[in-house]
Amino acid sequence: MKLLFINGVNLNMTGTRERGVYGCETLEDINGQIAGHFKNRGVECEFYQSNIEGEICTALQKAECDGIILNAGAFTHYSYAIRDAIASVSVPVVEVHMSNVFSREEFRRKSVISEVCAGSIAGFGKNSYILAAESFLLNG
Ligand code: DQA
Repeated sequence: MKLLFINGVNLNMTGTRERGVYGCETLEDINGQIAGHFKNRGVECEFYQSNIEGEICTALQKAECDGIILNAGAFTHYSYAIRDAIASVSVPVVEVHMSNVFSREEFRRKSVISEVCAGSIAGFGKNSYILAAESFLLNG
């Protein structure tokens, strides 16, 4: 099984920005831990990050994998382009947030992508990515 982890805007700043919310580990550290978690389990993990909305759409369109784990960052709350890109591909996408977006500012409670995603995981820090990815293994 091949899984693609896509991180959107500002996620490259993980480990530096708002450490109380997103932790002290870098995205590279977290990606390494995810790859380690799935090592020897027949799962190939690929990682992609971009701050550019259109590039996220292109990554979704071009994905050749069994499942996508997407933390779109703030794009989650307003990007109809990413929503439409998710809706246009047949690969299932699970939405991820490290923080509990429902316990933060009002604008974070609204996701324009949830409706076209297979499911959503939020609030478990870096483990949100692993929990989302595990759903693909459980579903075969
Ligand atoms: C986030 C939550 C978003 O509201 C925020 O804009 C992010 C990160 C998370 O992982 O908790 O950039 O997606």
